Amino acid sequence: MRVIIESTPEAASRRAAQMVARLVRQKPVCTLGLATGGTPLKLYGELIRMHQEEGLDFSRVTTFNLDEYVGLPPSHEQSYRYFMQKNLFDHINVDVRNTNVPDGRALDFEKYGERYEQLIEDAGGIELQVLGIGTDGHIAFNEPGSSLGSRTRLKTLAPETVRDNARFFGSEKAVPKLAITMGVGTILESRRCLLLAFGENKAEAIAATVEGPVTAQVTASALQLHREVVVVLDEAAASKLA
Ligand code: F6R
Repeated sequence: MRVIIESTPEAASRRAAQMVARLVRQKPVCTLGLATGGTPLKLYGELIRMHQEEGLDFSRVTTFNLDEYVGLPPSHEQSYRYFMQKNLFDHINVDVRNTNVPDGRALDFEKYGERYEQLIEDAGGIELQVLGIGTDGHIAFNEPGSSLGSRTRLKTLAPETVRDNARFFGSEKAVPKLAITMGVGTILESRRCLLLAFGENKAEAIAATVEGPVTAQVTASALQLHREVVVVLDEAAASKLA
């Protein structure tokens, strides 16, 4: 694991965007894994700027998102498909047909999970997976106790995650309690991972991820087993590292 600490979320996001842009320039036909939530917003903003001002070309890029809430249609303002359109896809030249976000309205989630895995495989696997981290140490929606070999499947959100995400929905009650998510095993198969975390509320999860034991109680700690992980932090998120 390579840990990079920048003074602010802005500087850290620019650093992360440079890594994504380098890949897209070197390998125009590539597959990116993407995350939602508050953390990658500045990274996506920087990628949009690079597209608009520097001609960064996404026309042959394929994307796979980590997760989606169950029951939300793509038109719902809190669905992750809506998030990706609004915060990235609508502002760059990616072909929307090459963007994949799990379908929260699938009828048979077991079959759907297998299909999503197959789509990733058919695309040649994920070259670079962007990740955020939950305050409980989750990556994607792999909550504490998830198997470290897990694949794309249905998952119940932990109460801590429901509380954390209530800020987007206005109340805890409105937060869907189920999500479809790539598994830890799926994420570990990406060729490279780029984990971002900002703010003091992520400091404990980051310390456990980077310096703690590998445990299903902190699913991000499984990234210690991966050969190519870059962790980009601001100073606050790094504040509990030894
Ligand atoms: C989102 C995702 C989640 C978030 C995590 C942090 O696609 O997979 O694991 O990355 O919950 O969320 P934020 O960035 O809102 O703090």
